Amino acid sequence: MNQKLIFTNLVGGAIDALVDELGAKDVFVLTDTNTSQFVMPLLVNDSAVVAKGRRITIPSGDINKNLEQLAYVWKQLSVSEATRSSVLINVGGGMLTDLGGFAAAAFKRGMRCINVPTTLLGAVDASVGGKTAVNFNGLKNQIGVFSEAEASIISTVFFNTLPQQQILSGYAEMLKHALLEDEATLGRLLDYNPVYPEFDSEALLPLLRASVLVKQRIVEEDLTEKGLRKALNLGHTIGHAFESFSFAHLSPVPHGYAVAWGMVAELVLSHMKLGFPSEILHKIAAYVLENYGAMAVECKDYPELLKAMRQDKKNDSPESINFTLLEEVGRPMINCSATKDEIEAALDIYRDLMHLA
Ligand code: GLY
Repeated sequence: MNQKLIFTNLVGGAIDALVDELGAKDVFVLTDTNTSQFVMPLLVNDSAVVAKGRRITIPSGDINKNLEQLAYVWKQLSVSEATRSSVLINVGGGMLTDLGGFAAAAFKRGMRCINVPTTLLGAVDASVGGKTAVNFNGLKNQIGVFSEAEASIISTVFFNTLPQQQILSGYAEMLKHALLEDEATLGRLLDYNPVYPEFDSEALLPLLRASVLVKQRIVEEDLTEKGLRKALNLGHTIGHAFESFSFAHLSPVPHGYAVAWGMVAELVLSHMKLGFPSEILHKIAAYVLENYGAMAVECKDYPELLKAMRQDKKNDSPESINFTLLEEVGRPMINCSATKDEIEAALDIYRDLMHLA
């Protein structure tokens, strides 16, 4: 069964209507300390269901996406006698919907949940597609299941107070979806300004809808990432290596920034190996440089970056490095491998395009 997607800025009304449709009597609302403070006062006003629901709050931050907080959620559900026909409403960013989705999927072998993403990154990515998980043993998303929420209620009302970096971080995933879709979708994103003070959350909603539908179509065909869903890894092989490198040597960069830089480097590889059009590569590189700046890597950093790419959990064998590349906008090729020399050449060109060389 596919997750229902509701795009609206009237979130409270949408929650009430959905819970009524699901016929759920018992509602639990999972929040973190951030959403509890900034989002819940609005939702409690707008939704009778949320106002009456039993609140469970965990500390915010990816560091708390762990077994301890998961057990806390299960404990609260258990002592409040939640059943399989209860509903858990997950109000938060990707950390919260990942943990809450897993809590719901495993509680009594599965209770229903609804996602209400409150960040752009959460809305465009984590809240859709059924990847649920917690971090374990120092590794991200190690324990989890594929289990789709009943619905995700996607709005842009909560974004007006987000820091600029968080908007741009989510916007990078929207650019990725557009690259997987078509030039018209990509053009609309390049024309929209996601930067304050021009950032207009109302005007973002139709763009966000189009973007989420790209992901939804892919997930409908391949929920468990055996094939087509790997297309969503565009930009992430080199992006994750940049991200890990920043954690080890620089100040940590937001996920979407690493993906934006990773996409530039992987579009270079796409050009080298599959003939991806160079004028679009240059357009994306200029857009990324203008809005995200550049991650400064040097030739001496390549061995460490390559090691991180080899260890990426998407990689099937340590001997080769796997990528999703593009022949052109809207034509992804999954399971492409590239040699050390090709990746280093792509990183050289990335540094040129980002004015680092
Ligand atoms: N974030 C990529 C996926 O959901 O498959």
